[in-house]
Amino acid sequence: MRAHYNHLDPFLSADDADTMLRLAENFNSFGPYANEAENEGIGENLPQRFDAAFNYIANGIDGGGNQEDFKTAASRTNYFRETYAYGEEVQAPGVEPFMNHPALKETARKISGVERIVPAIIFANLLVPGQELAVHTDVPEFRGANRKVTPQWLLVTMLHSGLFDEWRIPITTCVSWFGKSKGGAFTFYPEGASGTREAIQAQHNSAILIDTDEVFHGVERVTQTRPDIPIIEKSTRLHFMGDDHWQMREGDTVLGDYDWADLRYSISWKAYCFKDEAEETLWRSGSDDLSIEFILDRLEADLRKTGVLTGARPEPTEFATLMVGHYIRFPRQQMAAE
Ligand SMILES: [Fe+2]
Repeated sequence: MRAHYNHLDPFLSADDADTMLRLAENFNSFGPYANEAENEGIGENLPQRFDAAFNYIANGIDGGGNQEDFKTAASRTNYFRETYAYGEEVQAPGVEPFMNHPALKETARKISGVERIVPAIIFANLLVPGQELAVHTDVPEFRGANRKVTPQWLLVTMLHSGLFDEWRIPITTCVSWFGKSKGGAFTFYPEGASGTREAIQAQHNSAILIDTDEVFHGVERVTQTRPDIPIIEKSTRLHFMGDDHWQMREGDTVLGDYDWADLRYSISWKAYCFKDEAEETLWRSGSDDLSIEFILDRLEADLRKTGVLTGARPEPTEFATLMVGHYIRFPRQQMAAE
């Protein structure tokens, strides 16, 4: 079934679109995405999104294989992300009107088919020239299982397994683009993993609303302006220097200077989509929350039923790898028609 989505071009008024650029400048400094909380207990030696990372390292974004050394490949996808708002916590003052934008809520109603749209989170993403984003689905949420308490790869596995649909809180995402960077198209599989790959250019002040938890998507490479891209470590940051100038630094060492026009800047707005007030209340009450034991037991039982697992439950890292490999079926890697 073809996924519902809306492509908005233009998206905001010209002034409001400029405000989104100013929010990044005022935020001032961005850290790399790979710093998000690490796993504990299950798959604790694995990166949060090893589901997408292993596929990317094996296949690259175009399925042509990835010939680069590990650090370069990791730096290509270790883009810069900050959270502008998470629920009531606003970290980028001035983003509030965007959080509750009526047109966003209305479009999310159309995409999700439900009435009760509750904006939840706004991320800001910056990619430097030469960066791209591996094909993936986003981190979904279930009653009692979310990115604050559950490893991200496990949440993704839960969605693809289909075993936890009755606890799922559907999320509609709006990805919008601001600025003048070249390349970096949003690429996605609206007909499902076995369908054709399509692409939307990341034009200034345009946006797509879609269920990115279900639909595989990625970001094509931002036009590379130099032979190499810097190696991005945990403490590497991208700083706004004023005057349309950004600088990547590791401690006191300058790794790169960029014009605003070189950077791909996107905003992800995510909203919970509840059927009705009762469903929202059930989620807020915590009275129907999944526990990690229940989640793992249910997955294990399914793996045994289908004969994928026999004998004792493997140790955590092997168990995690087995589940991701079994349940997450990445798209056949194919380019969109020109
Ligand atoms: Fe995504």
